[in-house]
Amino acid sequence: MNQPFTSPFVYAACQHGAEKILKELLCEPLGPYRLAYSQKGFVTFKSNLATPPWSRSLPDHPLIRSRGHVLERLEGELAEPMIETILQKVGELDWEHLHIWQRDIAQPGWHGFEPGRSALASFLVEKFNAALDKRGDSRRASSDHIASADTKILEVCLDEPNRWWLAAKPVQTTEDGWAGGVYAPPIPDGMISRAYLKLAEAIRWSEMPIKPGDRVVEIGSSPGGACQLLLDLGAKVTGVDPADMDERIANHPSFTHWRSRSLQVKRKEFAPFKYLICDANVAPNYTLDTIEAIVTYPTSRIEGLILTIKLSDWEHAKLIPDHLERVHSWGYSRVDARQLAHNRREYCLAALK
Ligand SMILES: C[S@@+](CC[C@H](N)C(=O)[O-])C[C@H]1O[C@@H](n2cnc3c(N)ncnc32)[C@H](O)[C@@H]1O
Repeated sequence: MNQPFTSPFVYAACQHGAEKILKELLCEPLGPYRLAYSQKGFVTFKSNLATPPWSRSLPDHPLIRSRGHVLERLEGELAEPMIETILQKVGELDWEHLHIWQRDIAQPGWHGFEPGRSALASFLVEKFNAALDKRGDSRRASSDHIASADTKILEVCLDEPNRWWLAAKPVQTTEDGWAGGVYAPPIPDGMISRAYLKLAEAIRWSEMPIKPGDRVVEIGSSPGGACQLLLDLGAKVTGVDPADMDERIANHPSFTHWRSRSLQVKRKEFAPFKYLICDANVAPNYTLDTIEAIVTYPTSRIEGLILTIKLSDWEHAKLIPDHLERVHSWGYSRVDARQLAHNRREYCLAALK
C-alpha cells in the first residue's frame, strides 16, 4: 500500500559541528549512504535503496540525535498552505503521532539556548492540530510528546521557518520516541547548573534505575546541578571536587563533599556506592583511567556508571567504540554511548552491570 511513500533519503540531526565527522563516518566508500544536503545540525543522505516509511533500516551512531526517512522537502512563506500540502500528502499513510521540532539554532548552552524548546515548533503544533481537527482527524501533533516503542511517527523538521522536511520513522529506541531526539525535562526554579538537565536526560536515556536511598558518588560535582537532581530523586550523594559546591547542595542533609581530586581519594572509600557519575573536565583517557581504578578495585560494588567524555576534537568520536569496549571489559554488560541533546562538545557513556 505504501508504495508512493518509499524514499531513498534519510536525515540525521546532530549537534552543531558534528556534521563533518558524521558525514565521514556514514559515507564510507562502500557504505549505503551518499551526502545529499547539509546544514548545521541537520544532514540528509541518499541511500542505495528506496525504503518504506516504517522501515527499521536507518543510520545509527552515538552522534545522531534523531533520524528518519525523508518523504519530502517543502518551502513556502505561509504555514497554512504548507500544512495543507503535508496533510494531503500523508492522507493515506497510517501514521500515529506527529512530532514537530526545530533544528538547533546554536550549540547547547550558548547564551541560554537549550535544544527542543522552540516557540516556532509550539506555534506550528497548534496550527497542525487545528487543521487535523478541521478534518475530523483525532491524531495529534506535539513537540514534547514521548512515543512508545513501535509507534509510527510522522515528523516535520523545521530546518528554517520557511523550509521544512517531512519525515517518518518507527520508534525503535527510547530516544526515537522523543521529538527531534530531545528529552527536555522541566527546568526547576533555582537550577544550579545545566548539568541538572544533562543528568536528567542521561538517566532517562540509559534507564539507570537510581532509587531513593541509593548511594551515588559524583566526580566533578561543583557547582552542583547534577547533585541537585540526584538529591531531588532522593539519593544519598557524595560529590568529589576540589572546587566549592553551591551552598544549597553543601548544606543538604543527604550530601557529603569530599573536597579533593579523584586520584587523591583512596579507592576503598568508593566501596559504599551503587552508582558513579563522572563529569570532570579532563581528557577522555584520564576519565577512563580514573574510573577503571575505582570499579576494578576488589571492594567496588558500583552497578551503574554515567560518564561524560569530552570531545575536544570531533575526530575523537572515532574512539567511541574503543571506549565502549574498555568499559565492557570491566564487567558491565549494558554499555552504550550517545551525544545527549544537553551535552556540549562531549558525549555520555552509560554502563550497567
Ligand atoms: C563541568 S564541571 C562539573 C559540573 C557539575 N557536574 C555540576 O553538576 O554542576 C567540571 C568539574 O570537574 C572538576 N574536576 C576536574 N578535574 C577533577 C578531578 N580530577 N577530580 C575531581 N573533580 C575534578 C572541576 O573542578 C569542575 O568543577
